[in-house]
Amino acid sequence: MIPVTDNDVQRRKDFLGITAEDERILREAHPLVVEHGARIIEQFYTWLLSNEPQRKLLSGPGVLERLKDLQRVYFERLLSGPWGKDYFEDRVRVGLAHHRVGVPPEWYLGAYDRYLAIVSDVFRPAFGADEARYRRTLEAVRRMVTLDLGLAMDAYIGAGRDELVAGQAELAVLLEDQKRLQAAKQTLTDMIVHDLQNPLAGIRAFLELLGGRIGGLTAQEGEAVGEALRRCDDLGQMVMNVLQVSRAETGRLETYIENLDAARIARDTATAYRLFAESEGRVIDVEAAGVVPIRTDQNLLRRVLANLVRNAIRHTPRGTRILIRAAADPSGGATVSVSDTGGGIPPQALPLLFERFAAQALREAGLRVDTGLGLAFCGAAVATLGGRIEAESDGRSGTTFRVTLPPAP
Ligand code: HEM
Repeated sequence: MIPVTDNDVQRRKDFLGITAEDERILREAHPLVVEHGARIIEQFYTWLLSNEPQRKLLSGPGVLERLKDLQRVYFERLLSGPWGKDYFEDRVRVGLAHHRVGVPPEWYLGAYDRYLAIVSDVFRPAFGADEARYRRTLEAVRRMVTLDLGLAMDAYIGAGRDELVAGQAELAVLLEDQKRLQAAKQTLTDMIVHDLQNPLAGIRAFLELLGGRIGGLTAQEGEAVGEALRRCDDLGQMVMNVLQVSRAETGRLETYIENLDAARIARDTATAYRLFAESEGRVIDVEAAGVVPIRTDQNLLRRVLANLVRNAIRHTPRGTRILIRAAADPSGGATVSVSDTGGGIPPQALPLLFERFAAQALREAGLRVDTGLGLAFCGAAVATLGGRIEAESDGRSGTTFRVTLPPAP
């Protein structure tokens, strides 16, 4: 509750021009509110209950009876005083009570306006022809009502500020928790990735040993070893994707920027995947003539292209043609793209593809598009490189993933 000092009491009264004369006039009129209290309350409630939302707020068991008594006391005190520190604290408390039960300031102001109208009406006959005294009395009541209102509104603002401060403190705690969780997740991801890499390298080494036993394996066995090696590579890429997406999220994805030829990287990717694509019934073409100069991180760009090509092989029907392109971009940078002639992706799914939780977001959007972490890695890696990645598809005839990398600074 806002503390009220003797200084506040005098300052507020001075500001509103409330003098000892006003207080004397109010005390003189006090018997009138006692005499007409029931009528004032009755008219006040006719107004309060004429508004549906207000009626609803007052509909709890016994609320009306309790309130009528409390308000009668309140209105009597408005005219009887004494208007010292206790009075001020009471008004602040009542203001806070209204803030707590959810009475908006607009209702509060409206209610006081109504109260003044009722009092003007009820007091009128008591002053007979003494118009000047009547006006002066109403003037004193109006000043005291303004004082009450000022206190109540300050109580509202103070309570709102307290809530804000409490909310901010709560938010700061949540943020701390979030940071701790993020750090724990990071450590866990790093540990899992590290622990997976070792056995994977071991399996790979054994498979290579097995595959090298020329003559010792039947053609079918050789094929099986080759397939197992490819699965190992897939798993290795997945593990790297997990690691690098998590690093990119926390700005820990390290890059080594150098002058490169995007056309060469495109051609290399085509060569690296051509045999595998053919064994899976897809064809890989490349359109990357000459040199396409670029300044970027070689590793990341190669991995982005590899992910896009592997995706194109995995998610298209046999007979699909995959085209890898690299070209200079009018902006001075370079564009590398991977297109396929597969079944396409629903256009509504395109903006969600590079999200970390794309699979979930797509499912929630009612779309059946199979995505792993590969595209999330591509999104995070391209963002780290300061570039842009987009997917284009009409949902029927193929998809193009385009990476635009910025010119050298
Ligand atoms: C002239 C304006 C008003 C005055 C003087 C006034 C007066 C009071 C007083 C003295 C209390 C008791 C506070 C306490 O001691 O805890 C109270 C409570 C309350 N007032 Fe007002 N009030 C006014 C306007 C309104 C309005 C517009 C509403 C809207 C519906 C409202 C709804 C309530 C409610 C819901 C409570 C709490 C009742 C309970 O559950 O105890 N008041 N009011």
